Amino acid sequence: MPTYIVLLGPPGAGKGTQAKIISEELGLPHISSGDIFRENLKNQTELGKLAKDYMDRGELVPDDVTIAMIRDRLARPDCEQGALLDGFPRTTAQAVELDTTLAGFNGKVDYVPYINVPEEELVERLTGRWTCRLNPRHIYNVKTNPPAKPGVCDIDGGELYQRPDDQEETVQNRIQVYFQQTKPLIEYYQKAGVLIEVDGQQAIEKVSANLLEVLK
Ligand code: AP5
Repeated sequence: MPTYIVLLGPPGAGKGTQAKIISEELGLPHISSGDIFRENLKNQTELGKLAKDYMDRGELVPDDVTIAMIRDRLARPDCEQGALLDGFPRTTAQAVELDTTLAGFNGKVDYVPYINVPEEELVERLTGRWTCRLNPRHIYNVKTNPPAKPGVCDIDGGELYQRPDDQEETVQNRIQVYFQQTKPLIEYYQKAGVLIEVDGQQAIEKVSANLLEVLK
């Protein structure tokens, strides 16, 4: 039976940071809807061009587009044993569609770790985030997780940049969108009996240890 894990949490909770660590430990592919959109944007595909305006405003890309994209990704051979989803689902419609898609693979959402971080810390984390241009999974923070050399990725030497949607005004909008459209999924997965709350205010290694403890 494949194992499917959905990482839930507000923007800046540390989903991407933790997904990199956990996916390697569990041997599951890390599927980030945000990274797929950004990759498409970089390659100037139609999907990327469509997503850009929504992302720049901090709004969600329409459900039909996002669902089709993730359905395709989950059908690839590397997801035969399951996957770790980061940033999807983000609306109830996406969650319902995910259930249907996984049922088609004889699977279901098995675990939903919810990384809980208070709102006031999110803005500080996101406006201080720097990401590697060569690999978006290499994530830093000027205050809490700085690179050894400013502006340079410790892992591959890539240039670090600030995401355009990490400007404070856009961050505020992303947080509001999260409260309106994504937070209801906490109840959705609580009812399904798969939600596991983790304290995301601890050090990165502590959060990973907590997550691995409940997932292994
Ligand atoms: P996406 O890329 O998914 O962004 P997000 O959900 O807003 O999440 P982030 O990547 O901002 O935060 P994160 O939780 O991964 O935190 P991170 O680990 O980087 O989506 C971007 C856009 O794409 C959306 O706005 C939307 O337009 C579109 N989109 C994507 N998915 C969609 C969907 N399903 N439907 C529709 N539209 C969609 O950490 C943040 C910072 O905190 C870093 O600097 C990090 O170093 C630091 N940090 C991490 N952990 C800790 C810790 N424990 N202590 C201190 N600092 C920490």
